[in-house]
Amino acid sequence: ALERTISIIKPDAVAKNVIGEIYSRFEKAGLKVVAAKMKHLSRKEAEGFYAVHRERPFFNALVEFMTSGPVMIQVLEGEGAVLKNRELMGATNPKDAAPGTIRADFAESIDANAVHGSDSLENAAIEIAYFFSTTELCPR
Ligand code: CMP
Repeated sequence: ALERTISIIKPDAVAKNVIGEIYSRFEKAGLKVVAAKMKHLSRKEAEGFYAVHRERPFFNALVEFMTSGPVMIQVLEGEGAVLKNRELMGATNPKDAAPGTIRADFAESIDANAVHGSDSLENAAIEIAYFFSTTELCPR
């Protein structure tokens, strides 16, 4: 089915100047960018976005990292976009990420892991609404 998902290019990858290289992977895989914004997240925004991880031991480091510089946030649309984006990203820990995936090619560590992607269609809808109003999304 035609799906929409959130992709965030994290501060490490923005600093590496690889936004275009990552976008090109989305496009080659048939995913369309239907909304995008660059943003330096406030602590509140990062904490709210990752609220499900609030009790995890890595939460503070995660928020610290996600607010360390600008991120590029986009909505990707395509057939099976949620899974397709996760396949392009590779495993959360770049040490476990398959060769040719975004994290294998651009990420340094489980904290600085280049990209975030929604893990389910349900969370995709929540994450899209967190960063974009309906008028900022291209009509389907
Ligand atoms: P992300 O997909 O953005 O979702 C939460 C982030 O927490 C994850 O990517 C990692 O960058 C970071 N993180 C740090 N330590 C861990 C861990 N042990 N398990 C999962 N995520 C972690």
